[in-house]
Amino acid sequence: MPHDSDNSSLPPTAASVLEVKDLHTQFDTRAGVLPVVNGVGFRLEKGKVLGLVGESGSGKSVTGFSIMGLLDAPGRIVSGQVLFNGQDLAQLDARALRNIRGNRIAMIFQDPMATLNPVLRIDVQMLETIHAHRKMGKAEALEHCRQTLARMGIPSPHERLKAYPHQLSGGMRQRVAIAIALLNGPELIIADEPTTALDVTIQAQILSEMQQLVRETGTALIWISHDLSVVAGLADDIAVMYAGRIVEHGSVDAVLDTPQHPYTQGLIGSLPSANQRSHRLQQISGMAPNLLDLPPGCAFAPRCPRAQARCQQPPDMQTIEPPLSQAATATAHTVRCFFPGAAPANAATPEAAADLSRSAA
Ligand SMILES: Nc1ncnc2c1ncn2[C@@H]1O[C@H](COP(=O)(O)OP(=O)(O)OP(=O)(O)O)[C@@H](O)[C@H]1O
Ligand code: SF4
Ligand SMILES: [Mg+2]
Repeated sequence: MPHDSDNSSLPPTAASVLEVKDLHTQFDTRAGVLPVVNGVGFRLEKGKVLGLVGESGSGKSVTGFSIMGLLDAPGRIVSGQVLFNGQDLAQLDARALRNIRGNRIAMIFQDPMATLNPVLRIDVQMLETIHAHRKMGKAEALEHCRQTLARMGIPSPHERLKAYPHQLSGGMRQRVAIAIALLNGPELIIADEPTTALDVTIQAQILSEMQQLVRETGTALIWISHDLSVVAGLADDIAVMYAGRIVEHGSVDAVLDTPQHPYTQGLIGSLPSANQRSHRLQQISGMAPNLLDLPPGCAFAPRCPRAQARCQQPPDMQTIEPPLSQAATATAHTVRCFFPGAAPANAATPEAAADLSRSAA
């Protein structure tokens, strides 16, 4: 079985806005060293959307922060590369990173108040963002702010510019935070669950606005979510994370229609489905692993319905993790499992997979 050593699912010839290679991020805590991101790698092309999914604690946000250079102590990148148009962001100093952030790369957070300053009017904050990175006359800059707010579906942008964040609804605040991220025309946006706290209607509107924006501008987008059904309708590719590793990666169609990893199959099986309301949802049994005490071999083994002796190496033997390997289903589909394959009956219900495929269409 051929191995994809840098964990990327695209052919190596594709021009990438972002190429993350074998990224390792740790937190040095009193209890010990937490290996939070373990060899994450992927490529992202212009205008493409990557959905990064996984349970709470799987390392999605820390991956995003590592790419952005926003890790705070005790977190640190210990190895790997974050190539943004070929330049390794992991090697840049704080000043050089600040020049790129908010300009060529932007991040959107679950809480819009992580972006917005509560005591400043929206126009002041937006103008500051523009002028931090480029020269533009005030009238032109204000017109640009209005257009960017309108692009995010914000009615009466002229009035909103004069508002303070607390005068806006939660959904409107998040739209403003996204508009601020868009102001300088970033080539890459990392969105960390920005719609999770919003009601489903607003969430759907924002997702559709983001999708249109990516198509129009060619911005590459990483959309982090614990919810597979959100990324199903938005992303081109999906990377599934477990215990700081990408365990499955491929096009939305490949990952949702023919999931090969038991964890992905469990995520799909645990989704509510319109066709199975009368059935109990299947949850992935067991707990997320303790990163300080990962089992030898495959980190998913204690919860895996398909685990075999090979998956759980005895402690006295060398710990051998399953490598990320080419799946048999599609060329750009990779899976980290010694025994990949279709789900056994009932593991991922056909109804749930069919629902996801419909929302992806
Ligand atoms: N400042 C920190 N100090 C110590 N450990 C941390 C810190 N930040 C994150 N971690 C650990 O890193 C792991 C991954 O966290 P991360 O926030 O990336 O998860 P996530 O996949 O984004 O989860 P969620 O869906 O809950 O947002 C967790 O086990 C968490 O405990
Ligand atoms: S390597 Fe083994 S334990 Fe891990 S996911 Fe595959 S079958 Fe399950
Ligand atoms: Mg998170």
